[in-house]
Amino acid sequence: MITQSQSQKTHESAIAHVSGKAVYTDDQRLPAGMLSLYPVLSPHARAKITKIDCSAAYAVEGLVTILTAADVPGENDTGAIIHDEVMLPTDEVSYWGQVVVWAVGESEDAAREAAAKVVVEYEPLPAILSIEAAIAAQSFHLDKKVIKRGEPEIALEKSDRTITGELTVGGQDHFYLETHTSWVIPDGEGGYKVYSSTQHPSETQIIVARVLGLPNNCVVVTCLRMGGAFGGKESQANPFAAAAAVAAYKTGRPARVSLRRHHDMIITGKRHNFLGRYQVGFTNEGMLTALKVELYAEGGWSLDLTPPVLMRAMMHIDNAYYVPHLEVQGWMAKTNRISNTAYRGFGGPQGMVICEEIIDRIARTLGLAPEVVREQNFYHGSGETSTTHYGQEIFQNRIARVWNEVKANANFSDRQIEIAQFNQTSPYKKRGIAITPVKFGISFNKIEYNQAGALVLIYTDGSIQVNHGGTEMGQGLHTKMLQVAAQSLGVNIDRFRIMHTSTDKVPNTSATAASSGSDLNGQAIRDACETLRQRLATVAVKMLNLNAPEDLVFENDWIYCPSYPSARIGFDEVVKQTYTQRISLSANGFYRTPNLYWDAKINRGRPFYYFAYGAAVSEVEVDGFTGTFKLRQVDIVHDVGSSINPLLDKGQIEGAFVQGMGWLTMEELVWNEQGRLLTFAPSTYKIPTVSEIPEQFTIALLERAAQDGVILGSKAVGEPPFMLAISVREALREAVAAFGSGKHPVNLAVPATPEAILWAIESVRATAISAVTA
Ligand code: MTE
Ligand code: MOS
Repeated sequence: MITQSQSQKTHESAIAHVSGKAVYTDDQRLPAGMLSLYPVLSPHARAKITKIDCSAAYAVEGLVTILTAADVPGENDTGAIIHDEVMLPTDEVSYWGQVVVWAVGESEDAAREAAAKVVVEYEPLPAILSIEAAIAAQSFHLDKKVIKRGEPEIALEKSDRTITGELTVGGQDHFYLETHTSWVIPDGEGGYKVYSSTQHPSETQIIVARVLGLPNNCVVVTCLRMGGAFGGKESQANPFAAAAAVAAYKTGRPARVSLRRHHDMIITGKRHNFLGRYQVGFTNEGMLTALKVELYAEGGWSLDLTPPVLMRAMMHIDNAYYVPHLEVQGWMAKTNRISNTAYRGFGGPQGMVICEEIIDRIARTLGLAPEVVREQNFYHGSGETSTTHYGQEIFQNRIARVWNEVKANANFSDRQIEIAQFNQTSPYKKRGIAITPVKFGISFNKIEYNQAGALVLIYTDGSIQVNHGGTEMGQGLHTKMLQVAAQSLGVNIDRFRIMHTSTDKVPNTSATAASSGSDLNGQAIRDACETLRQRLATVAVKMLNLNAPEDLVFENDWIYCPSYPSARIGFDEVVKQTYTQRISLSANGFYRTPNLYWDAKINRGRPFYYFAYGAAVSEVEVDGFTGTFKLRQVDIVHDVGSSINPLLDKGQIEGAFVQGMGWLTMEELVWNEQGRLLTFAPSTYKIPTVSEIPEQFTIALLERAAQDGVILGSKAVGEPPFMLAISVREALREAVAAFGSGKHPVNLAVPATPEAILWAIESVRATAISAVTA
């Protein structure tokens, strides 16, 4: 059990964050002689490089060198899954904004000035700039993927009704506050120390070693903390660490990359935009009978993490609904745009928004309330009706619980009536309310990633260092890990110092991703603490003149036997005695998630350790003149198991929801016909700010929800609430529908920007008028 005072613990860096004292990679004390890198970017989406002339650049004072492909001592590739991501191109550029060479200067200004003088000549080539163009050209990464259950073709034919449709889903820039940053410091003996804003230090280590042509043990990667990552630093940190490493190798001096905001937005991958095409069969009562979906994810110029992102989208096409016959096929479009990557939800949001679009269309086709169609199709019972299309049975199904609770908390039915009344008397402003569920699978799809390590060191004064493989990006992982350690050793949390994540402390770690940072690392820390506790208990039991070490309780810095609580001994004293007796005071911990199974040939198995659940009710008011909206009220019930830290969990739910709302309603990436990204600054790319936060925002954590077999009964929280924002899109649809007869389908773009909402209003008004005149 986590005690009340521990569970209210604020983020371990809260004061440092708000006072500006928290040190990020680029805030460290500069090592002597640090060089700065500045990129030269491709001005074409695709072109042959005919000449690179650096002579004018070398005349710039303060320029030290220019990195071209020829300077890479090892393999010129930074691909995470396959080696298809050239670090510096030799003959062809593959997207607008690709780094062609890096200028390395004594200062960033010198590097920038020199970069501007590098002359690169190109012969433009035809480029593929959209999913549609990739489909036309049959330009894909790898093979198509399929998950299939039952006989959807036959079931579609037998269904009372069928509809077909398609939905285009936009991408999203990560817009972390801290842009990509990497420092590489050569030690003069063949070793390289890398400080990187990376979610995956072990992979950054592997890729730096790859480009340097060194074994992994020559490279140590440390992540202090990140100023936000959101998936954007899972694989995308690697090329920048690699570039700084090549500069350090070539010059023998420390070197850094610290991207300007516009470069970060132009060069790095984003959330995948998707195209979904579907055919759905259902009964006259709105029960799902069959679904066939084609999902196209825009992978961009290189593969990056597209296969698992697409697979997660395919696995979440069902959201919370049982579809007896379901086939989903997935393609990865290979285009000449940035290489899209992980982003909170990892494809899940794209799959689920298409799912909810389909459900809404069924409801409007039949004239049923969308929430009725939703709830009557939930996974339920056991066996077949509670088994996903990839063959995993859902246990501890909490969909109905979160749904019913949030419906009651939000007073859903009463407010529907009030809103209908409001809309009748308000011609230019319409309100809408909607409820949507989330079911999200927890674990990495790649089974081998579901492991973690920790290293806990107790010093003779009783102070303790905790190392684990997870990285801190603002989500509060370190705080939770300290709570786990304090709880496991029965000591005060102030004894601990959490150390920077580093590959020389805990090796071969997974990315801090898939929301499983605390699930995995928490167990590893507990394992390490358990080892230490056993060692301390064998010493303490003798000091207490007892003989059963396993009976001892560690609590509030004391160690005692419950039968003789007054004969207790202090933790510090036992530590000193343990040292004196020459017993080790440091221990490793390790964990691997049990019972996972996945057959990648047929895409079936039990890929998830458990599911996280949530439901949200959102109410909006849409202005018919401007297409803008106000989010009037949001109620959420979310299942985090037994929360380790309710304050942090609520913060994660709030942040994820608002970020999801940004993706669905504001954030629009625009490219021109030449494949140039036009929205590469906050002036043109709008993310939610404090003014978009709902006027009334109530988050309840599902109670009595402890989960078995997880750390302290808690469940992952980082990504699942992102998808609760789909309720905003559905509420917007309700409001838009109210501008017409309310009975016709409402086509709403993703993102539903004010412009898109105006178009949708136009179209429902037009259908309403034509229905009247017909
Ligand atoms: N919260 C903050 N403040 N900053 C972030 O970058 N990333 C999200 C989520 N919450 C993120 C965040 C993503 S994409 C994931 S996968 C999880 O945190 C990762 O951390 P966890 O596994 O510890 O939850
Ligand atoms: Mo999160 S998209 O798994 O980093």
